[in-house]
Amino acid sequence: MVCCGAKKGGGRFITKILTFGLLWALIIYTVFQFKNFNLDVQIPHLNSRLLLQKKLDPLTRHADSTTESILDMEPYIDKSSPLTEDKMVEDIQNRAPNLPIVYWNKNKNKPMGFNNTCARFPSMFELEFNNLYWQTLRTSNGTFQLYGAYLDKRANNRLGPTVRILGMIDRIEPTVVTYCQFWFDGKKEPVIAKTFEYKYIWYKKWGNYKNGIYQPYLLACVIPQKYREKIPQSISLVEKQCDNATNNLRVIYEKPEKKKDFAVCVKGLDFLHEDLSVRLVEWIELLNILGAEKIYFYELQVHPNISKVLKYYENEGKIQVTPINLAGGQPNIPSFQHLYLTKKTNHKRQNELIPYNDCLYKNMYKYRYIALLDIDEVIMPIDGTSWKDLMENKVLPKALKINKEERASYNVRNVYFLDDLIHNHGWFKEIPRYMHMLQHVYRTRNFTKPGQYVKCFHNTEKVLTLHNHFPLSCLGSGCTSYPIDTADAQLHHYRADCVKTLKKSCEEFRKTSVMDTTIWKFKEPLVERVSKTLKNLGFFGPDLKEADKKR
Ligand SMILES: *[C@@H]1O[C@H](CO)[C@@H](O)[C@H](O)[C@H]1NC(C)=O
Ligand SMILES: *[C@@H]1O[C@H](CO)[C@@H](O)[C@H](O)[C@H]1NC(C)=O
Ligand SMILES: *[C@@H]1O[C@H](CO)[C@@H](O)[C@H](O)[C@H]1NC(C)=O
Ligand SMILES: *[C@@H]1O[C@H](CO)[C@@H](O)[C@H](O)[C@H]1NC(C)=O
Ligand SMILES: *[C@@H]1O[C@H](CO)[C@@H](O)[C@H](O)[C@H]1NC(C)=O
Repeated sequence: MVCCGAKKGGGRFITKILTFGLLWALIIYTVFQFKNFNLDVQIPHLNSRLLLQKKLDPLTRHADSTTESILDMEPYIDKSSPLTEDKMVEDIQNRAPNLPIVYWNKNKNKPMGFNNTCARFPSMFELEFNNLYWQTLRTSNGTFQLYGAYLDKRANNRLGPTVRILGMIDRIEPTVVTYCQFWFDGKKEPVIAKTFEYKYIWYKKWGNYKNGIYQPYLLACVIPQKYREKIPQSISLVEKQCDNATNNLRVIYEKPEKKKDFAVCVKGLDFLHEDLSVRLVEWIELLNILGAEKIYFYELQVHPNISKVLKYYENEGKIQVTPINLAGGQPNIPSFQHLYLTKKTNHKRQNELIPYNDCLYKNMYKYRYIALLDIDEVIMPIDGTSWKDLMENKVLPKALKINKEERASYNVRNVYFLDDLIHNHGWFKEIPRYMHMLQHVYRTRNFTKPGQYVKCFHNTEKVLTLHNHFPLSCLGSGCTSYPIDTADAQLHHYRADCVKTLKKSCEEFRKTSVMDTTIWKFKEPLVERVSKTLKNLGFFGPDLKEADKKR
């Protein structure tokens, strides 16, 4: 039968195919093994030889040897012993500068207050906190979120020694009466005084002028005559004199023997997805060269690379970083907070006044001048290379010739160095491309109008509340401001584009750009410092970092 003959022949055929298939499989397997083998040899890795040995030695019991090495391994963990309570208190103080934790810890076993039913010193565990850094007072008409308290003993403060409390209140023109409970060292009872004023840190014409929205305020608690020479340790704000406080702020008062010259304050950094790390390095180094003795940053959310830069400079002692967030029911979730601040410009501006004024009050005894700058702005002297030279040899002599009294602020005119003004001209070959400011030396011919978008050196003896561009209120004879001659200094503003409100004149601005290489006088030290820092931080890869370490 055709069928059977075919079957017989078919059987042999199938065997042939099977044998052939098996051979193929063997070949492919062998090739695969060799490929792996080759790979192992090629990878320049310490373990490759070990792997090779295992592969070639079928007698090694792989599983066992792995178990053994895991059994022998010891992970690197932090083995320092747990903090003692005193150390923990110290740690808490560093994390929460506004909490009188040390004072409380010292006195926690003594009953403090008038008596059981009047003005007891609150335990730190009874305070009402809000979003980590704020403390709350709820009154019959408005809620207060308090951020910081500072002793103001400046000569120009006509009220005499005063504790200023910085915070936000969800009321415009608050009418509720409140009291300040001052706590002194070694005194069992608090000293109580009516709150002197709620100073609004905003103008109503700027918007957001509505009850229910948290508004920035500076409160004044004037120390009663009898206690003026004493330094209060902490303060609570209450609605009725005898109330048990739900807030208690450490009164910050750090006064060195002598003032330094310049500090810079930077509002809450909000660059979670924008890696401005390399630009930040150039900016910090340039300000440091110009004479900023310290830069005080506040931090909302930043990219990990920016964190790296900030940590590095904090260790060097050139900057200080304070974490901050938004009070009340405002969003603090990363990204979402950024979206909120982008869409709600007035809320953003109102919130910024907290870090600006906190920075002023923490540093008013430490520096003669404070400048509030963004990380794309530089106060650039035209001649000379330092802010000290600018102020002492140019600005002050001119200003004092007109009027013998020092001004509350000295303002610098704004001029744009827009990103695209350069691109027609290519790159400057002798300057690294990552030096953004050194590469961008074309600016608009015109400055923005006098008083518009300026930045100031604020005189710490004279300003009471600060806003981004000008002081909002001042001590003594009012908010005098001296406009620094554009021949002496200019505010370099490095942006992709003008601010939105200037869109129209921006087009005009662009048509006439001029080359301005004032910044090049810092080329050498700046390139050297920035490149060294970037290398140290590993921005050019681990190899360069290592090479630098060995040297
Ligand atoms: C507690 O102290 C307050 C303030 O000095 C006083 O008015 C009040 O009478 C005192 N109460 C008692 C029960 O002693
Ligand atoms: C509550 O405060 C607002 C403004 O701060 C004020 O207009 C209003 O009259 C106050 N209400 C009462 C009952 O005092
Ligand atoms: C303060 O707290 C104490 C103890 O809890 C209480 O007896 C007293 O009534 C409170 N004082 C006020 C004014 O609420
Ligand atoms: C720039 O300045 C010139 C001369 O002062 C002036 O005529 C011109 O209108 C200014 N341009 C803009 C856009 O302000
Ligand atoms: C910066 O961030 C990128 C993306 O996360 C990362 O690849 C790079 O290594 C970072 N640079 C440094 C110096 O850490």
